[in-house]
Amino acid sequence: MANTDQPAVKLLRGATVNFTDNPRIKGDENSVQYEAKGAIVISESGRILWQGAFADLPDAFKGLPCDDYDDKIIMAGFIDPHIHFPQYRILAAPGKDLLDWLNRFTFPEEGRYSSEEYAAKAAEIFLDRLFANGTTSALAFCSVHKTCADTLFAAAQKRGMSMITGKTMMDRLAPDAVLDTPETAARDSQELINKWDNKGRLKYAITPRFAVTSTDAQLQVTGDLYKDNPDCLMQTHLSESPGEIATVQKQFPWSKDYTDVYDHFNLLGENSFFAHGIHLSERECQRLAESGSTVVHCPTSNNFLGSGLFDIDHLSKPERPVGVGVATDVGGGTSYSMLQTLGEAYKVAMLKGRKITAHDAFYLATLGNAKQIKQDNETGNLEAGKYADIVVLDPKATPVLESRQEVSENLEDILFSLMILGDDRAISATYVAGERVYKR
Ligand code: GUN
Ligand code: ZN
Repeated sequence: MANTDQPAVKLLRGATVNFTDNPRIKGDENSVQYEAKGAIVISESGRILWQGAFADLPDAFKGLPCDDYDDKIIMAGFIDPHIHFPQYRILAAPGKDLLDWLNRFTFPEEGRYSSEEYAAKAAEIFLDRLFANGTTSALAFCSVHKTCADTLFAAAQKRGMSMITGKTMMDRLAPDAVLDTPETAARDSQELINKWDNKGRLKYAITPRFAVTSTDAQLQVTGDLYKDNPDCLMQTHLSESPGEIATVQKQFPWSKDYTDVYDHFNLLGENSFFAHGIHLSERECQRLAESGSTVVHCPTSNNFLGSGLFDIDHLSKPERPVGVGVATDVGGGTSYSMLQTLGEAYKVAMLKGRKITAHDAFYLATLGNAKQIKQDNETGNLEAGKYADIVVLDPKATPVLESRQEVSENLEDILFSLMILGDDRAISATYVAGERVYKR
Protein backbone atom coordinates (compact mmCIF):
# COMPACT_ATOMS: atom_id res chain seq x y z
CA MET A 1 0.00 0.00 0.00
CA ALA A 2 1.33 3.40 -0.91
CA ASN A 3 1.68 5.84 1.95
CA THR A 4 1.40 9.27 0.36
CA ASP A 5 2.03 11.47 3.42
CA GLN A 6 5.62 12.04 2.36
CA PRO A 7 6.98 13.04 -1.03
CA ALA A 8 8.69 10.17 -2.86
CA VAL A 9 12.29 10.91 -3.85
CA LYS A 10 13.89 7.69 -5.04
CA LEU A 11 13.22 4.32 -6.59
CA LEU A 12 15.31 1.17 -6.14
CA ARG A 13 14.96 -1.68 -8.61
CA GLY A 14 16.21 -5.24 -8.21
CA ALA A 15 15.15 -8.62 -6.85
CA THR A 16 13.45 -7.78 -3.56
CA VAL A 17 13.39 -10.18 -0.62
CA ASN A 18 11.18 -9.34 2.32
CA PHE A 19 10.82 -11.38 5.52
CA THR A 20 7.46 -10.83 7.19
CA ASP A 21 7.76 -13.56 9.85
CA ASN A 22 9.92 -16.38 11.18
CA PRO A 23 10.16 -19.16 8.55
CA ARG A 24 11.18 -21.71 11.23
CA ILE A 25 7.83 -21.22 12.92
CA LYS A 26 5.48 -19.99 10.20
CA GLY A 27 6.94 -21.78 7.15
CA ASP A 28 8.52 -20.16 4.10
CA GLU A 29 5.23 -19.51 2.32
CA ASN A 30 3.99 -17.32 5.19
CA SER A 31 7.28 -15.57 5.87
CA VAL A 32 9.22 -14.79 2.71
CA GLN A 33 8.16 -12.47 -0.10
CA TYR A 34 10.26 -12.49 -3.27
CA GLU A 35 9.93 -10.36 -6.37
CA ALA A 36 12.50 -11.23 -9.07
CA LYS A 37 11.72 -7.84 -10.62
CA GLY A 38 10.88 -5.75 -7.61
CA ALA A 39 10.89 -2.10 -6.67
CA ILE A 40 11.09 0.03 -3.54
CA VAL A 41 10.01 3.66 -3.27
CA ILE A 42 11.78 5.83 -0.70
CA SER A 43 10.40 9.01 0.84
CA GLU A 44 12.08 12.29 1.57
CA SER A 45 12.29 11.31 5.24
CA GLY A 46 14.24 8.15 4.36
CA ARG A 47 11.38 5.73 4.90
CA ILE A 48 9.91 3.09 2.63
CA LEU A 49 6.75 4.36 0.92
CA TRP A 50 5.97 1.37 -1.23
CA GLN A 51 7.47 -1.99 -2.20
CA GLY A 52 6.31 -4.69 -4.56
CA ALA A 53 6.61 -5.96 -8.13
CA PHE A 54 7.92 -3.33 -10.53
CA ALA A 55 5.02 -4.22 -12.83
CA ASP A 56 2.64 -2.97 -10.11
CA LEU A 57 4.46 0.31 -9.43
CA PRO A 58 1.82 3.05 -9.08
CA ASP A 59 1.98 5.69 -11.84
CA ALA A 60 2.74 8.41 -9.29
CA PHE A 61 6.15 6.81 -8.68
CA LYS A 62 7.14 6.27 -12.28
CA GLY A 63 9.85 8.68 -13.39
CA LEU A 64 11.53 8.96 -9.96
CA PRO A 65 15.34 8.95 -9.94
CA CYS A 66 16.24 5.23 -9.92
CA ASP A 67 19.12 3.12 -8.60
CA ASP A 68 18.75 0.03 -10.76
CA TYR A 69 20.37 -3.14 -9.38
CA ASP A 70 19.06 -5.47 -12.07
CA ASP A 71 19.02 -9.04 -10.68
CA LYS A 72 20.89 -8.25 -7.48
CA ILE A 73 19.03 -8.85 -4.22
CA ILE A 74 17.61 -5.93 -2.27
CA MET A 75 16.65 -6.63 1.33
CA ALA A 76 16.64 -5.08 4.79
CA GLY A 77 20.11 -4.19 6.08
CA PHE A 78 21.73 -6.57 8.55
CA ILE A 79 21.48 -5.95 12.27
CA ASP A 80 24.44 -6.95 14.44
CA PRO A 81 23.22 -7.35 18.03
CA HIS A 82 26.62 -8.04 19.62
CA ILE A 83 29.81 -6.33 18.53
CA HIS A 84 32.66 -4.55 20.33
CA PHE A 85 33.57 -1.15 18.89
CA PRO A 86 36.96 -0.86 20.68
CA GLN A 87 38.04 -4.25 19.33
CA TYR A 88 37.98 -3.17 15.70
CA ARG A 89 41.75 -3.68 15.34
CA ILE A 90 42.20 -6.97 17.17
CA LEU A 91 40.42 -9.54 15.05
CA ALA A 92 42.51 -12.69 14.64
CA ALA A 93 44.47 -12.30 17.90
CA PRO A 94 45.11 -15.88 19.01
CA GLY A 95 44.41 -16.48 22.72
CA LYS A 96 44.52 -19.82 24.55
CA ASP A 97 40.89 -19.27 25.53
CA LEU A 98 38.50 -16.40 26.30
CA LEU A 99 40.15 -15.22 29.53
CA ASP A 100 43.67 -15.41 28.08
CA TRP A 101 42.52 -13.54 24.96
CA LEU A 102 40.91 -10.81 27.06
CA ASN A 103 44.02 -10.33 29.19
CA ARG A 104 46.60 -10.45 26.40
CA PHE A 105 44.93 -8.53 23.61
CA THR A 106 41.58 -7.06 24.51
CA PHE A 107 42.11 -5.14 27.73
CA PRO A 108 45.34 -3.44 26.50
CA GLU A 109 43.64 -2.36 23.26
CA GLU A 110 40.50 -1.11 25.02
CA GLY A 111 42.73 0.94 27.36
CA ARG A 112 43.57 3.20 24.40
CA TYR A 113 39.96 4.45 24.26
CA SER A 114 40.50 6.88 27.11
CA SER A 115 41.75 9.15 24.31
CA GLU A 116 38.93 10.99 22.58
CA GLU A 117 41.09 11.48 19.51
CA TYR A 118 41.84 7.78 19.24
CA ALA A 119 38.20 6.86 19.76
CA ALA A 120 36.94 9.39 17.21
CA LYS A 121 39.21 8.06 14.47
CA ALA A 122 38.31 4.48 15.34
CA ALA A 123 34.58 5.24 15.26
CA GLU A 124 34.70 6.34 11.63
CA ILE A 125 36.64 3.24 10.59
CA PHE A 126 34.30 1.01 12.59
CA LEU A 127 31.12 2.46 11.08
CA ASP A 128 32.58 2.44 7.56
CA ARG A 129 33.30 -1.24 8.08
CA LEU A 130 29.74 -1.98 9.21
CA PHE A 131 28.36 -0.30 6.09
CA ALA A 132 30.84 -2.12 3.82
CA ASN A 133 29.38 -5.34 5.21
CA GLY A 134 25.76 -4.35 4.76
CA THR A 135 25.19 -3.84 8.49
CA THR A 136 22.91 -0.87 9.12
CA SER A 137 22.38 -1.08 12.87
CA ALA A 138 24.08 -2.58 15.88
CA LEU A 139 23.94 -3.27 19.59
CA ALA A 140 27.55 -2.56 20.49
CA PHE A 141 29.89 -2.57 23.48
CA CYS A 142 32.15 0.43 24.03
CA SER A 143 35.16 0.50 26.36
CA VAL A 144 34.91 1.44 30.03
CA HIS A 145 35.58 5.09 29.17
CA LYS A 146 32.68 7.49 28.98
CA THR A 147 34.35 9.31 26.11
CA CYS A 148 34.33 6.13 24.00
CA ALA A 149 30.53 5.84 24.19
CA ASP A 150 30.12 9.58 23.62
CA THR A 151 32.23 9.29 20.50
CA LEU A 152 30.40 6.32 19.01
CA PHE A 153 26.98 7.89 19.69
CA ALA A 154 28.07 11.13 18.02
CA ALA A 155 29.51 9.34 14.97
CA ALA A 156 26.37 7.20 14.54
CA GLN A 157 24.12 10.23 14.96
CA LYS A 158 26.02 12.05 12.22
CA ARG A 159 25.32 9.12 9.90
CA GLY A 160 21.61 8.96 10.78
CA MET A 161 21.90 5.30 11.72
CA SER A 162 20.34 3.23 14.45
CA MET A 163 22.88 2.50 17.19
CA ILE A 164 22.43 1.03 20.65
CA THR A 165 25.50 1.16 22.80
CA GLY A 166 26.82 1.92 26.26
CA LYS A 167 29.86 2.36 28.40
CA THR A 168 31.22 -0.96 29.66
CA MET A 169 31.10 -1.37 33.43
CA MET A 170 33.97 -3.37 34.99
CA ASP A 171 35.59 -2.87 38.37
CA ARG A 172 37.91 -5.84 38.95
CA LEU A 173 40.33 -8.37 37.45
CA ALA A 174 41.63 -6.15 34.65
CA PRO A 175 44.33 -3.46 34.28
CA ASP A 176 43.57 -0.10 35.94
CA ALA A 177 43.30 1.56 32.51
CA VAL A 178 40.04 -0.31 31.89
CA LEU A 179 38.52 -0.26 35.36
CA ASP A 180 35.84 1.96 36.86
CA THR A 181 34.15 1.75 40.27
CA PRO A 182 30.52 1.08 41.16
CA GLU A 183 30.05 4.80 41.77
CA THR A 184 31.71 6.12 38.61
CA ALA A 185 30.05 3.41 36.51
CA ALA A 186 26.61 4.40 37.77
CA ARG A 187 27.23 8.12 37.42
CA ASP A 188 28.81 7.95 33.94
CA SER A 189 26.15 5.54 32.65
CA GLN A 190 23.30 7.73 33.91
CA GLU A 191 24.87 10.83 32.35
CA LEU A 192 25.20 9.01 29.03
CA ILE A 193 21.59 7.83 29.25
CA ASN A 194 20.41 11.39 29.88
CA LYS A 195 22.45 12.65 26.94
CA TRP A 196 21.83 9.99 24.28
CA ASP A 197 18.98 7.60 25.03
CA ASN A 198 16.15 7.96 22.51
CA LYS A 199 17.89 10.84 20.71
CA GLY A 200 16.77 10.16 17.14
CA ARG A 201 17.79 6.62 16.27
CA LEU A 202 20.09 6.17 19.27
CA LYS A 203 19.41 4.07 22.34
CA TYR A 204 21.38 3.34 25.47
CA ALA A 205 22.39 -0.14 26.63
CA ILE A 206 23.48 -0.63 30.23
CA THR A 207 26.65 -2.65 29.74
CA PRO A 208 28.22 -4.67 32.57
CA ARG A 209 31.02 -6.59 30.79
CA PHE A 210 30.38 -9.90 32.60
CA ALA A 211 30.14 -11.21 36.13
CA VAL A 212 33.86 -12.04 36.17
CA THR A 213 34.90 -8.36 36.02
CA SER A 214 32.14 -6.85 38.19
CA THR A 215 32.02 -6.97 41.99
CA ASP A 216 28.77 -7.59 43.83
CA ALA A 217 28.65 -3.86 44.54
CA GLN A 218 28.87 -3.05 40.86
CA LEU A 219 26.26 -5.61 39.84
CA GLN A 220 24.02 -4.12 42.52
CA VAL A 221 24.27 -0.61 41.05
CA THR A 222 23.80 -2.09 37.57
CA GLY A 223 20.49 -3.61 38.66
CA ASP A 224 19.46 -0.30 40.22
CA LEU A 225 20.36 1.58 37.03
CA TYR A 226 18.31 -0.88 34.96
CA LYS A 227 15.36 -0.48 37.33
CA ASP A 228 15.59 3.32 37.13
CA ASN A 229 15.86 3.24 33.32
CA PRO A 230 13.59 0.35 32.29
CA ASP A 231 13.44 1.55 28.70
CA CYS A 232 17.19 0.99 28.23
CA LEU A 233 18.59 -2.30 26.98
CA MET A 234 21.03 -4.31 29.11
CA GLN A 235 23.84 -6.29 27.50
CA THR A 236 26.47 -8.60 28.93
CA HIS A 237 28.14 -11.99 28.38
CA LEU A 238 26.97 -15.34 29.72
CA SER A 239 28.18 -18.93 29.71
CA GLU A 240 30.77 -18.58 26.97
CA SER A 241 33.75 -20.66 28.05
CA PRO A 242 34.42 -23.37 30.65
CA GLY A 243 37.16 -21.29 32.34
CA GLU A 244 34.83 -18.31 32.64
CA ILE A 245 32.03 -20.42 34.11
CA ALA A 246 34.38 -21.97 36.70
CA THR A 247 35.58 -18.48 37.69
CA VAL A 248 32.02 -17.24 38.17
CA GLN A 249 31.21 -20.28 40.29
CA LYS A 250 34.12 -19.42 42.61
CA GLN A 251 33.26 -15.72 42.72
CA PHE A 252 29.58 -16.27 43.51
CA PRO A 253 29.52 -19.53 45.51
CA TRP A 254 25.91 -18.93 46.61
CA SER A 255 24.59 -18.93 43.03
CA LYS A 256 22.64 -21.81 41.49
CA ASP A 257 24.51 -21.22 38.21
CA TYR A 258 25.89 -18.40 36.04
CA THR A 259 22.45 -17.14 34.97
CA ASP A 260 21.42 -17.00 38.62
CA VAL A 261 24.13 -14.40 39.29
CA TYR A 262 22.54 -11.97 36.82
CA ASP A 263 19.07 -12.96 38.01
CA HIS A 264 20.02 -12.18 41.62
CA PHE A 265 20.94 -8.62 40.60
CA ASN A 266 17.70 -8.21 38.57
CA LEU A 267 19.40 -8.18 35.19
CA LEU A 268 17.13 -10.63 33.36
CA GLY A 269 14.23 -9.29 31.33
CA GLU A 270 12.75 -8.45 27.95
CA ASN A 271 15.41 -5.84 27.26
CA SER A 272 18.31 -8.05 28.39
CA PHE A 273 20.91 -9.46 25.98
CA PHE A 274 23.30 -12.23 26.90
CA ALA A 275 26.03 -12.97 24.38
CA HIS A 276 27.08 -16.59 23.76
CA GLY A 277 24.97 -18.78 26.12
CA ILE A 278 26.73 -21.93 24.92
CA HIS A 279 26.78 -24.08 28.05
CA LEU A 280 23.38 -23.31 29.58
CA SER A 281 21.53 -25.87 31.69
CA GLU A 282 17.83 -26.58 31.33
CA ARG A 283 17.17 -24.50 34.46
CA GLU A 284 19.03 -21.53 33.01
CA CYS A 285 17.13 -21.78 29.72
CA GLN A 286 13.86 -21.83 31.63
CA ARG A 287 14.74 -18.67 33.56
CA LEU A 288 15.97 -16.91 30.41
CA ALA A 289 12.79 -17.90 28.57
CA GLU A 290 10.34 -16.92 31.30
CA SER A 291 12.08 -13.56 31.79
CA GLY A 292 11.93 -12.81 28.05
CA SER A 293 15.72 -12.44 27.82
CA THR A 294 17.64 -12.85 24.57
CA VAL A 295 20.71 -15.01 24.02
CA VAL A 296 22.93 -13.85 21.17
CA HIS A 297 24.70 -16.55 19.16
CA CYS A 298 28.22 -15.50 18.10
CA PRO A 299 29.46 -18.41 15.98
CA THR A 300 32.72 -17.09 14.50
CA SER A 301 33.85 -15.96 17.94
CA ASN A 302 32.87 -19.22 19.62
CA ASN A 303 34.78 -21.22 17.06
CA PHE A 304 37.81 -18.93 17.05
CA LEU A 305 38.19 -18.89 20.86
CA GLY A 306 37.29 -22.59 21.13
CA SER A 307 34.43 -21.68 23.45
CA GLY A 308 32.02 -24.40 22.34
CA LEU A 309 29.14 -25.27 20.01
CA PHE A 310 25.91 -23.33 20.48
CA ASP A 311 22.80 -25.50 20.26
CA ILE A 312 20.05 -23.49 18.59
CA ASP A 313 17.42 -26.21 19.05
CA HIS A 314 18.16 -26.50 22.78
CA LEU A 315 17.65 -22.75 23.20
CA SER A 316 14.56 -22.66 20.96
CA LYS A 317 12.63 -25.60 22.49
CA PRO A 318 8.99 -24.84 21.61
CA GLU A 319 7.77 -25.37 25.20
CA ARG A 320 10.15 -22.68 26.55
CA PRO A 321 11.77 -20.83 23.63
CA VAL A 322 14.62 -18.52 24.58
CA GLY A 323 14.80 -15.56 22.17
CA VAL A 324 17.87 -15.93 19.96
CA GLY A 325 19.82 -13.32 17.99
CA VAL A 326 22.89 -13.88 15.81
CA ALA A 327 25.91 -11.58 15.81
CA THR A 328 29.54 -11.14 14.83
CA ASP A 329 31.10 -10.44 18.26
CA VAL A 330 33.97 -8.61 16.55
CA GLY A 331 36.83 -8.76 17.67
CA GLY A 332 36.49 -12.23 19.31
CA GLY A 333 34.49 -12.83 16.15
CA THR A 334 36.64 -13.13 13.06
CA SER A 335 34.50 -11.24 10.55
CA TYR A 336 32.36 -8.14 10.30
CA SER A 337 30.32 -9.95 7.69
CA MET A 338 26.89 -11.16 8.74
CA LEU A 339 27.03 -13.43 5.67
CA GLN A 340 30.08 -15.21 7.08
CA THR A 341 28.47 -15.20 10.50
CA LEU A 342 25.37 -16.95 9.13
CA GLY A 343 27.56 -19.44 7.26
CA GLU A 344 29.39 -20.26 10.50
CA ALA A 345 26.07 -20.57 12.37
CA TYR A 346 25.00 -23.09 9.75
CA LYS A 347 28.18 -25.15 10.23
CA VAL A 348 27.87 -25.07 14.04
CA ALA A 349 24.28 -26.26 13.73
CA MET A 350 25.43 -29.09 11.45
CA LEU A 351 28.02 -30.17 14.02
CA LYS A 352 25.22 -30.32 16.61
CA GLY A 353 23.01 -32.33 14.24
CA ARG A 354 20.73 -29.31 13.70
CA LYS A 355 19.51 -27.58 10.58
CA ILE A 356 19.31 -23.87 9.70
CA THR A 357 17.95 -23.02 6.26
CA ALA A 358 19.08 -19.90 4.40
CA HIS A 359 15.63 -18.42 4.90
CA ASP A 360 15.94 -19.02 8.67
CA ALA A 361 19.39 -17.48 8.68
CA PHE A 362 18.57 -14.30 6.73
CA TYR A 363 15.41 -13.85 8.79
CA LEU A 364 17.52 -14.01 11.96
CA ALA A 365 20.03 -11.44 10.68
CA THR A 366 17.27 -8.97 9.74
CA LEU A 367 13.73 -9.07 11.16
CA GLY A 368 14.66 -11.63 13.83
CA ASN A 369 17.42 -9.46 15.28
CA ALA A 370 15.23 -6.36 14.87
CA LYS A 371 12.49 -7.99 16.96
CA GLN A 372 14.95 -9.03 19.66
CA ILE A 373 16.37 -5.49 20.00
CA LYS A 374 12.82 -4.04 19.89
CA GLN A 375 13.43 -2.08 16.70
CA ASP A 376 11.12 -4.00 14.38
CA ASN A 377 8.69 -1.08 14.23
CA GLU A 378 11.46 0.93 12.51
CA THR A 379 13.62 -1.58 10.64
CA GLY A 380 14.19 -5.29 9.87
CA ASN A 381 12.23 -5.61 6.64
CA LEU A 382 10.85 -3.64 3.68
CA GLU A 383 7.42 -2.85 5.10
CA ALA A 384 6.07 0.59 4.14
CA GLY A 385 6.68 3.09 6.94
CA LYS A 386 9.98 1.63 8.12
CA TYR A 387 13.35 3.27 7.57
CA ALA A 388 14.93 2.40 4.23
CA ASP A 389 17.90 0.59 5.86
CA ILE A 390 18.84 -1.66 3.00
CA VAL A 391 21.56 -3.97 1.72
CA VAL A 392 22.05 -4.88 -1.94
CA LEU A 393 23.60 -8.33 -2.36
CA ASP A 394 25.40 -9.55 -5.47
CA PRO A 395 24.84 -13.30 -5.87
CA LYS A 396 27.55 -13.37 -8.56
CA ALA A 397 30.13 -11.29 -6.68
CA THR A 398 32.99 -13.77 -7.12
CA PRO A 399 33.85 -16.40 -9.73
CA VAL A 400 32.91 -19.17 -7.31
CA LEU A 401 29.53 -17.58 -6.56
CA GLU A 402 28.95 -16.94 -10.25
CA SER A 403 29.45 -20.64 -11.06
CA ARG A 404 27.24 -21.60 -8.15
CA GLN A 405 24.36 -19.48 -9.46
CA GLU A 406 24.42 -21.50 -12.70
CA VAL A 407 22.95 -24.39 -10.69
CA SER A 408 20.85 -22.39 -8.21
CA GLU A 409 17.18 -23.13 -8.71
CA ASN A 410 15.42 -20.86 -6.26
CA LEU A 411 15.82 -18.10 -3.68
CA GLU A 412 16.84 -20.55 -0.93
CA ASP A 413 19.74 -21.73 -3.15
CA ILE A 414 20.87 -18.18 -3.88
CA LEU A 415 20.75 -17.06 -0.26
CA PHE A 416 22.37 -20.27 0.92
CA SER A 417 25.29 -19.83 -1.48
CA LEU A 418 25.66 -16.22 -0.33
CA MET A 419 25.92 -17.19 3.34
CA ILE A 420 28.40 -19.99 2.72
CA LEU A 421 30.53 -18.34 0.01
CA GLY A 422 29.81 -14.63 0.45
CA ASP A 423 31.58 -11.91 2.39
CA ASP A 424 32.05 -8.15 1.97
CA ARG A 425 32.65 -8.67 -1.76
CA ALA A 426 28.99 -9.62 -2.07
CA ILE A 427 27.80 -6.28 -0.71
CA SER A 428 27.00 -4.07 -3.72
CA ALA A 429 25.50 -1.20 -1.78
CA THR A 430 24.19 -0.19 1.63
CA TYR A 431 21.51 2.40 2.40
CA VAL A 432 20.75 4.01 5.74
CA ALA A 433 17.48 5.92 6.01
CA GLY A 434 17.27 6.01 2.23
CA GLU A 435 20.77 7.42 1.65
CA ARG A 436 23.35 5.29 -0.09
CA VAL A 437 26.18 5.14 2.43
CA TYR A 438 28.30 2.51 0.69
CA LYS A 439 28.83 1.39 -2.89
CA ARG A 440 31.28 -1.27 -3.96
N1 GUN B 1 33.43 -11.81 27.81
C1 GUN B 1 33.74 -10.66 28.46
N2 GUN B 1 34.25 -9.74 27.61
C2 GUN B 1 34.25 -10.31 26.40
C3 GUN B 1 34.66 -9.85 25.12
O1 GUN B 1 35.12 -8.73 24.92
N3 GUN B 1 34.50 -10.72 24.09
C4 GUN B 1 34.00 -11.97 24.26
N4 GUN B 1 33.89 -12.79 23.22
N5 GUN B 1 33.61 -12.42 25.45
C5 GUN B 1 33.74 -11.60 26.52
ZN1 ZN C 1 31.27 -9.97 23.23
